Amino acid sequence: EAAEKGGFPHYMLKEIYEQPWVLENTLGGRLREEEGDVELGLGLDPMAIDRIHVIACGTAAYAGWYGKYLLEALARIPTEWDVASEYRYRDPVVDERTLAIAISQSGETIDTLEGLREAKRKGARTLGVINAKGSSITREVEDVLYIHAGPEIGVASTKAYMAMLAAMAMLAVHFGRRRGILSKEEAQRLLKEMRKLPRLVEEVLEKRPLIAHLAEKYHQAQDFLFLGRHVQAPTAYEGALKLKEISYIHAEAYPAGEMKHGPIALIDEHLPVVVLATKGPLYEKTLSNIQEVRARGGKVIAIATEGDMEIGKLAQDVFHVPEVHPLLAPMVSVVPLQLLAYEIAVLLGRDVDQPRNLAKSVTVE
Ligand code: G6P
Repeated sequence: EAAEKGGFPHYMLKEIYEQPWVLENTLGGRLREEEGDVELGLGLDPMAIDRIHVIACGTAAYAGWYGKYLLEALARIPTEWDVASEYRYRDPVVDERTLAIAISQSGETIDTLEGLREAKRKGARTLGVINAKGSSITREVEDVLYIHAGPEIGVASTKAYMAMLAAMAMLAVHFGRRRGILSKEEAQRLLKEMRKLPRLVEEVLEKRPLIAHLAEKYHQAQDFLFLGRHVQAPTAYEGALKLKEISYIHAEAYPAGEMKHGPIALIDEHLPVVVLATKGPLYEKTLSNIQEVRARGGKVIAIATEGDMEIGKLAQDVFHVPEVHPLLAPMVSVVPLQLLAYEIAVLLGRDVDQPRNLAKSVTVE
C-alpha cells in the first residue's frame, strides 16, 4: 500500500500532488490554441440546444456550479444547476432542445444517474462529464467527456474536482465558439491561459509549508466560514466541504455578498474566515466584505493574487496564488483549500483517506 501511495502518507495528499499532470491529461490533446477552439469529439450540435441543466452531487456539484458561470459567460446558454437529489424530484421543465449534463467522478452516484434518467424521459439531449471509464452514467448518455483524472482513492475528492473544472471550462469555450458568441481572440487568450494551469498549480503546491503554518495556527477553531463571489463562490463551498469531510470541523460557505444576510452574526474573534479574494471584476466588492469581517473582529485568511500587497493590510493571513485569467482562478485557488483541510485533519489525528460516515461513491438513495 505504501508503494501505491507513491511515498505520500495518504492517498489524498498523493492525489492533490497529481493535479498538475491531471490537468495535462484533461486538457491534453484537446486544446487548439491556434484555431481558438477545443476538440472534444462530441456528437452533439451546439446549435441544437437552447438551455442546459447541470446535475451532480457533492464535489462534482460544485464543479457544475462553476460550469454554469462559464457556460453563461462564454456561450450565453441559459444554464440551470441543481444537486441531483433535488433535480430528480422537482419535475424540471425539459424539452428536446435541453442538454442535461451529468458530472460524476465514479459515474455511479444514484441520484445523478436518476436525475439524468428524468431529463432523458422528458426528451433532453445528454452529456456525461465522467472520470470512471465504462461506468453506469457513461452507458446512458449520448456523449461522454472523460476528465482523465486517473483512479481516485481518497474519499474526499481533489484531483477529480480539478479535472472537472477544466472539462467545464473547455466545454464552455467550445460551445461559445461554435455558437459564434466567443471571439477567436478571446478563446485563444483563454486557451493559452489554460495551457499554463499545470505549471501554476505546481507553483502553488511548492508553497505547502505556508499552508502547514496556517493549519497550525487555526486547527483548534470550532467553525470556519468560507466566502467567495462569482466563480470563486463554488471554490468557497468546495473549501468548506473539504474541511468538514476530513477534519469534522464545522465549516460553512457563503457567496461573499450574501454574508450580511445572516452569517455576519456569527463573526467574532474565534471565527476564521477564508476569503477568496483573487483579482477579477468583483475584487473591490470582496475587499469590502473583508473589511466587514475585520470590523467585527473576525480573522481573515485571504487567498489573493500574486503581487497583491494591499490585501495584507486588511487580512491577518494571505496566501498568494499565481495570476491567471479570472475565470480560471478557481483552479489555482482550490489547491490551498485542499491542503488546508488536509493539514488540519492530520493535526487533529483524523483518518484522512477514510473519513467517518462517508463513502467514495453513493450508489443507494
Ligand atoms: C460522495 C463522495 C464525494 C463525491 C460525491 C459525488 O459523496 O464522498 O467525494 O463528490 O459522492 O460522487 P461522484 O462520483 O458522482 O462524483
